[in-house]
Amino acid sequence: MHFDPMTTTVIDEAPSINLAYAGLCVFQPPAMRRISLASICLLPFAAALSWTTTPFNPSSIPLAVRTPYLSTWLPQGAGAALNDAWPTFWAGQITGWAGFVKVDGVAYSFLGASSVPSATFNKAVQKSFKFTSTQSIFVLSAGAVDLTVTFLSPVEPTDLLKQSIPFSYLSVSAASTDGKAHTVQVYSDISAEWVSGDNSLAVKWNSTTTGSILTHQVQLQTQNVFSEVNDHTQYGSAFYSTPNTVSATYQTGADVTVRAQFINNGKLGNTLDTNFRAINNNWPVFGLAHDLGSVTTASAPVLFSVGHIRDPAIQYIVTGGALQSRSSYFLSQFSTSDAVISSFLGDYSAALGRANTFDAKVQSDASKISADYAGVVAISIRQSLSANEITLSKTSSGAFNTSDVIVFMKEISSDGNVNTVDVIFPAWPIFLYTNPQLGKFLLEGLFRYQASGQYPNKWSVHDLGSSYPKALGHNDGGDEAMPVEESGNMVIMALSYAQKTGDLSHLQRYSALLDQWTSFLISDSLIPANQISTASSYLGVLWVCILICTSRMILPVPWRIKPILRSKASGVGPTMRFFNRAVGIVGIGAMGQIWNLLGNTSKGANYTAIAKSYVTQWQTLSASSTGAHLTLAYGNANSWGLSYNLYGDKLLKLNLFPASVYSQQTAWYSSHANKFGVPLDTRHTYTKTDWEIFTASWATTTAVRDLLISAVKSWVSDGQYNAPFGDLYDTVTGAVAIGFKARPVVGGHLALLTL
Ligand SMILES: *[C@@H]1O[C@H](CO)[C@@H](O)[C@H](O)[C@H]1NC(C)=O
Ligand SMILES: *[C@@H]1O[C@H](CO)[C@@H](O)[C@H](O)[C@H]1NC(C)=O
Ligand SMILES: *[C@@H]1O[C@H](CO)[C@@H](O)[C@H](O)[C@H]1NC(C)=O
Repeated sequence: MHFDPMTTTVIDEAPSINLAYAGLCVFQPPAMRRISLASICLLPFAAALSWTTTPFNPSSIPLAVRTPYLSTWLPQGAGAALNDAWPTFWAGQITGWAGFVKVDGVAYSFLGASSVPSATFNKAVQKSFKFTSTQSIFVLSAGAVDLTVTFLSPVEPTDLLKQSIPFSYLSVSAASTDGKAHTVQVYSDISAEWVSGDNSLAVKWNSTTTGSILTHQVQLQTQNVFSEVNDHTQYGSAFYSTPNTVSATYQTGADVTVRAQFINNGKLGNTLDTNFRAINNNWPVFGLAHDLGSVTTASAPVLFSVGHIRDPAIQYIVTGGALQSRSSYFLSQFSTSDAVISSFLGDYSAALGRANTFDAKVQSDASKISADYAGVVAISIRQSLSANEITLSKTSSGAFNTSDVIVFMKEISSDGNVNTVDVIFPAWPIFLYTNPQLGKFLLEGLFRYQASGQYPNKWSVHDLGSSYPKALGHNDGGDEAMPVEESGNMVIMALSYAQKTGDLSHLQRYSALLDQWTSFLISDSLIPANQISTASSYLGVLWVCILICTSRMILPVPWRIKPILRSKASGVGPTMRFFNRAVGIVGIGAMGQIWNLLGNTSKGANYTAIAKSYVTQWQTLSASSTGAHLTLAYGNANSWGLSYNLYGDKLLKLNLFPASVYSQQTAWYSSHANKFGVPLDTRHTYTKTDWEIFTASWATTTAVRDLLISAVKSWVSDGQYNAPFGDLYDTVTGAVAIGFKARPVVGGHLALLTL
């Protein structure tokens, strides 16, 4: 996928830009959601927050964020309390999620922006917000009680089963603030908006008590397997559950009816509305309530789980073009939704303990860089991992084959491609840090498809399928052409996994593919050595772009813009095409190491020598006349850019590039930063957060490292954006560019933890 800063006029005209804000306008009651969005959106947020935030206020707060389809956030902009705004899906549509508490008979809302005409309630007052890598924790005061509302989206990278469970926790505990006892009842519901991207579609539901669990289940009446509408899945079911204590009550019905029932009575009617209807037809909601009785010291938490299960999860092309249906890993252990929900809720204390341990480790590791870095890493982790799903196939007898694990990643927002190589690559540090095995399973689907012989090109494929969750391959070879980029990325990632784990199985099994891609890099991405001395300026452009410019054309753009961009890009001549070439040198050097690991040291030495000779020639061609920086384009001494690809040289310990390159580039960035960081290159003031952090990972001074990191932190907390972490923004204004959001590439923010 390409993003060309030079075509911003095209980008700016694209209708998708404003989608970033659609649906994020947060003050409307459900019945009003479809009207006057524009005017409501323009309401200014409060200039300063009236609550404390730790470590900072991000553009959007993760609430239930575990998969591409279980991804609900609290949009912030300059700040919204938990009960100021409706939670939204990452793409912006509301996912109705409401919460009320009664304290001494007085009702307060604590979650969502409900309007309940037939009942009176106050808003609890938010006192604090804190996030960690796994949790978003709010404290709100309701009368003489403080509520602690914790959203825990587990991050269990070393446990494939737990990591694959598409559920998240909400827990609510109450504590008296005046030392006296107060009666407390807690209520929460979800709407049917969790099951579709089209609210006019009809849903059905049921509510059951199974053993110790109360569960609401809701799904579309017409299930469309493997399909999406507005990025929501269109099949499977959403579940809202709570332990079935003696005080627990439930109810389904219209939003205003069920919420009024709780507000007026402190409990639900244990009644079912069986008038199945459209999501937006008197908005059916699925309510659960608990009576905590009299509370003084902190109560035991009231626990809810929200989740979405679909099966099969992924359609994947295998040998001979057959399509394999793959299931979420956890289904190998749990044959019913009740079983997995019961296990998930029962595991809460242990899960919280593991989450706290994980959070503390990340905090400790990242704080060694800086406090800003620790915050950026913590807000990136749930977002990045939630783009992935861990799947299994079945054997011919129908049993799950637990030795056949493939992880699938949705590209998110720039488009819906499956396992895009140039999106996995920037996200790669999160896998190296949390569990390289997950990275291996991400690459496995790409390797296996290409080893099946169905992909016709001699370079690496761009992705496994145009539209998640259909990994149908590209047997016509017509995938987006980024041959040098993707080939280099695959070789680099394969080596880094082997170096990190000592597991050479991928290198052994797929050495022919890796070598084929490297041969392509040697012959096609670079000019043969004997032509260098006679390089025309045309060839020179290719050469000087080897490192600096290599990836500038690969930034993904929203799919609506993609065809326009592509046609524009193809019209600007060969230099533009060459900008996209040449993560190549690092890839060639990596293949040298791979052959060494596989025992063919003569082949290894040959590739290493080729890579080194390419570096030498590249240095000569890309030096600016002043010697102050590397140039972006041969002969254009004023051009420069972020050399983020040096991360690969450092990560793999190839030492292909001399120390002088690192120090010279670092010095240049120290005096060429805008208010919100260092531009990607001289063609525009845009930059990428992942590439800034990749650059920070090798910067030779702490000052420049911290400048880049703090720029990313400033951007994500500057109050201008209200969608999940966007990775493309303007370094001058701090404004979002194009509307990239929620993308897994923020996993690249962990780059400094991998070196
Ligand atoms: C399970 O998957 C592995 C890896 O794809 C495969 O080699 C093996 O044959 C499969 N087993 C069965 C019984 O299908
Ligand atoms: C290394 O690879 C070359 C080229 O494929 C081959 O001729 C040679 O036999 C290999 N050497 C070893 C030790 O495998
Ligand atoms: C080194 O690799 C290149 C590219 O594959 C090949 O053309 C050349 O023959 C190799 N040289 C030796 C000495 O193996």
